[in-house]
Amino acid sequence: MNQRVLTGITTTGTPHLGNYVGAIRPAIAASREAGVESFFFLADYHALIKCDDPARIARSRLEIAATWLAAGLDTGRVTFYAQSDIPEITELNWLLTCVTAKGQMNRAHAYKASVDANEAKGQEPDDGVTMGLFCYPILMAADILMFNAHRVPVGRDQVQHIEMARDVAQRFNHQFGAGRELFVLPEAEIEESVATLPGLDGRKMSKSYDNTVPLFEGGAKGLKDAIARVVTDSRLPGEPKDPDSAHLVTLHDAFADAATREAFRRDLVAGLGWGDAKQRVVDLVEAHVGSMRAHYAELMAHPERIEDVLQAGAAKARQTATPFIKELRQAVGLRTMVAVAQPHAQAVTEKVALPLIKQYREADGLFYFKLTDAHNHLLLQSTGLADGREAGNWVKRLKTEGDAALAEAPVARAEGVSAEAVSAALAALVEATQAADAEKADKAANKAANKAAKASQA
Ligand code: TRP
Repeated sequence: MNQRVLTGITTTGTPHLGNYVGAIRPAIAASREAGVESFFFLADYHALIKCDDPARIARSRLEIAATWLAAGLDTGRVTFYAQSDIPEITELNWLLTCVTAKGQMNRAHAYKASVDANEAKGQEPDDGVTMGLFCYPILMAADILMFNAHRVPVGRDQVQHIEMARDVAQRFNHQFGAGRELFVLPEAEIEESVATLPGLDGRKMSKSYDNTVPLFEGGAKGLKDAIARVVTDSRLPGEPKDPDSAHLVTLHDAFADAATREAFRRDLVAGLGWGDAKQRVVDLVEAHVGSMRAHYAELMAHPERIEDVLQAGAAKARQTATPFIKELRQAVGLRTMVAVAQPHAQAVTEKVALPLIKQYREADGLFYFKLTDAHNHLLLQSTGLADGREAGNWVKRLKTEGDAALAEAPVARAEGVSAEAVSAALAALVEATQAADAEKADKAANKAANKAAKASQA
């Protein structure tokens, strides 16, 4: 079977070098491998969690779509779509929400970071936290599991989310798979050397830190200006630099082959000035993205072309999503009424048809029990017993041992009732008791397995 690779980009900002290096580039490279089926999408529902400015969401959707296409995405090979064009994803989101432990969401980094920030400011822990933010990992799991992705190329900060998607998938399989693996368990895929590209100040390149280097916006000049602002130490040209403590080197390496990396380090140690070093990085990145930038500008001038591409992608994605969500609905019990009516009716008649042992106390203060058949005709009648527990024990023995307990039991057959009729009724009772016990054991085993699964996630 083909390996399915899937990744999404949240449409809140303008793509920067970090997005390109951490997600877009490795994803496009992977999509060209043989035996790989790729799903790339605009995570525009996720965008709503972080941004309440409709104009910005709309602009970002356009820019990010244009970026993927300009970066060389082959839409003949991959399925490229907007998350919000696939209604099956929100539907799956709910099915998964119902099997996700709240405690696990409490531990999600993004939520915890908000809580920590609130606590540091002396505010309510959940101040400003929406349910969207809290449930962010579940929607992400729906993105991934909808298409049964095997591999998910992401930045390192997203690894926890992929692990959560695995857990949710596992729980769903266990609970509803009836022995089948409904969901593939996804694996995070990080490009080890450059998974998290540093920004201007050395922290992860991120819009929220305002430390990004733009990918296309601002043209070649925008790129050069941004790289000029990368923070370095104050060593002068001619002084040896430490390549290992300079994040400019990490930025450089993300676009360089092994030999170029080696030369850059050697020259820094030999005293290459920071200004010259930055120019080398500019040239390197420009060689990589310059031609894509022209393609990007053309796409931005023709948004209707982008829309067409996305609509075609959504139609293709739904060829997988629509039948799969049907299967999942079936698995959780959202079935047509016809399918459910029969087994239910059967179960009811089985119950009604069973003989019964009733235990009761009479006005004389003594304890009695009696066996009746399915039509409520008396079969066995006990004598009066002073001890209620003794009566209970006999009932239990008759229910579990049947005929074998009958010889010593303080009971008499009702008038006109044959020994065979009593035997048959007791046999039916014993069988029902065994079935009920087996079901109980099954439930207990399930519960234990669930508990073990939860413990291993903690
Ligand atoms: N949360 C991801 C990010 O911020 C974006 C995303 C949403 C995603 N759904 C996904 C990535 C599914 C991979 C797979 O980068």
